[in-house]
Amino acid sequence: MTQSPGQGNALDNLLTESRTFPPSDEFAAQANAQPALYEEAKADREAFWAKQAERLHWDTKWDQVLDWSDAPFAKWFVGGKLNVAYNCVDRHVESGHGDQVAIHWEGEPGDSRAITYAELQREVSKAANALTSLGIGAEDRVAIYMPMVPEAIFAMLACARVGAMHSVVFGGFSAEALRTRIEDSSCRLVITTDGQYRRGNPAPLKPAVDEAVAGAPSVEKVIVVKRTDTEVAWTDKDVWWHELVDSQSDQHTPQAFDSEHPLFILYTSGTTGKPKGILHTSGGYLTQASYTHNYVFDLKPDTDVYWCTADIGWVTGHSYIVYGPLSNRVTQVVYEGTPNTPNEGRHWDIVQKYGVSIYYTAPTLIRTFMKWGADIPAKYDLSSLRVLGSVGEPINPEAWIWYRENVGGGKAPIVDTWWQTETGAIMISPLPGVVSTKPGSAQRPLPGIGAKVVNDEGVEVEHGGGGYLVLDEPWPSMLRGIWGDEERYKDTYWSRFGEQGFYFAGDGAKYDADGDIWLLGRVDDVMNVSGHRISTTEVESALVSHPTVAEAAVVGASDETTGQGIVAFVILRGGAGADAGGADAIKALRDHVAKEIGPIAKPRQIMVVPELPKTRSGKIMRRLLRDVAENRTVGDVTTLADSSVMDLISAGLQSGKSED
Ligand code: WT7
Repeated sequence: MTQSPGQGNALDNLLTESRTFPPSDEFAAQANAQPALYEEAKADREAFWAKQAERLHWDTKWDQVLDWSDAPFAKWFVGGKLNVAYNCVDRHVESGHGDQVAIHWEGEPGDSRAITYAELQREVSKAANALTSLGIGAEDRVAIYMPMVPEAIFAMLACARVGAMHSVVFGGFSAEALRTRIEDSSCRLVITTDGQYRRGNPAPLKPAVDEAVAGAPSVEKVIVVKRTDTEVAWTDKDVWWHELVDSQSDQHTPQAFDSEHPLFILYTSGTTGKPKGILHTSGGYLTQASYTHNYVFDLKPDTDVYWCTADIGWVTGHSYIVYGPLSNRVTQVVYEGTPNTPNEGRHWDIVQKYGVSIYYTAPTLIRTFMKWGADIPAKYDLSSLRVLGSVGEPINPEAWIWYRENVGGGKAPIVDTWWQTETGAIMISPLPGVVSTKPGSAQRPLPGIGAKVVNDEGVEVEHGGGGYLVLDEPWPSMLRGIWGDEERYKDTYWSRFGEQGFYFAGDGAKYDADGDIWLLGRVDDVMNVSGHRISTTEVESALVSHPTVAEAAVVGASDETTGQGIVAFVILRGGAGADAGGADAIKALRDHVAKEIGPIAKPRQIMVVPELPKTRSGKIMRRLLRDVAENRTVGDVTTLADSSVMDLISAGLQSGKSED
């Protein structure tokens, strides 16, 4: 079963998962996607994308689908002109859907607001007029630092409407993180709130803006939405949203911008170096966001209620709350708060309340739900759910099965969607109703997308082999660069396989025997045990497949005999029992991994911990766990969602209980 890297693979393929779930005939018959979509795209890729671009309203049609002559800087739909906000709002009102609810907004304390497309049009128009009144126009940069309130979406669309670029900074980031991002792209305006609700309590937000703006001279004005009604300090740059925006006219004529007009910058941190300002433009981005949202989620705008649980501070919020869904005339839920406020059933309560039919979330949250226990979703009526999505990390087969059974009623297809801030939209995912799904695999590039698994030489590996994920064709929603740093753009993404002209995604991946793609985690995290290159994902999935484990993180720690030894950190499931952390149970876990994927992957050490260190978007920070595993002082924790987690882990280790 084990293939060594010597056979041309850059990564071993160890874990075998053979369950598959074909779509029901019923689902397949009504699905937006049909098998012919793959053939159509293959026959003529550019014609295929041209057809997808027709989903949008263009004020001026393009003359050329793709100009790749200045690679790696792409131009899509060259010469075309459109207004992105018009495509997401006004055209739905004009086609007679003004009374359709666009957003069912649910506040954390339980307040709610239903916003129709007609109302959205008025709100976005007022906000656009407000921006114009401040002198904000084409290509100005606007920082948006807000919780999940409707005004955050109005603000993004208002920027798009006047051609300004937004730079959304996640509301959980510090003043310093906000300042560096404002500075990097010289934002002239910041839009924020007085405070935000977090775990049932109002927390101040504006003080961080005050601190950031004090050190960011480019900022001329700060618009403040009143959300928590907490008292805030006031400077002469500040203006209340309700005073500035509410007095504006609700009529605004959108102007068409070039297809390559910049739409937004979104900073992504990566593991090292300063954050990269990922630049996205208009026509190609909106085309792929709209196309993927329609086919991957099988959206039926007249009947579905869609809910993507991401925050607008991440690209998922940009592409699958704002641009993709609204361009498709979605009715969607937007939820402000945390999943355990007022209790651990909040998401299921919302699903039941609004009749959510499509639910898109992250594996980290699914594993948290597993830890909380299946009895919680079981208390709610989740029968409206018909499509489930996952994004952000590899989803362990066991978490996938748990999701299918306990959330999807054993029948809703799960789409495991692979993409990145840089790709702008989904690249690899099964199409529901067409592809038989496999727990843990993102499976195949969408029609129109080129992706491959290659070895160190850039040669595609055979079925059953592992290596690096590359994208071998330009795509419409690809990043157009890193703000202010062309060289870094070329170095980071295009130099590793420069000769072949492939985009290097930084992820390990493998093909199974059918040629389906399985993501294996970031290549920086790959472990090398006695010359075997083992993915963290496979060992973690083997651990999570044990009935006592809810979540696992593994790292390679230096080892005198094997080069690296595998050290695992596990969180137990709710109801795992008191003995689940004892020496016998730990031994059983190690044996379980050996049985699932082979003795080479047997962890040297397993530690039971109460929490894992995660970034604010839910990705495990293995770097910090490597520090623990190698008995080093723990490194920089500033990007951790909760910095006390490392203390918890260290305290747990000292108790000795978790040692093997
Ligand atoms: C990285 C990109 C894309 C929106 C959220 C994250 C990992 C993402 C999957 C998936 C395995 C995944 C990859 C990727 N990732 N989706 N379905 N299966 N891994 O955006 O913060 O830019 O992170 O997330 O490692 O490179 P991001």
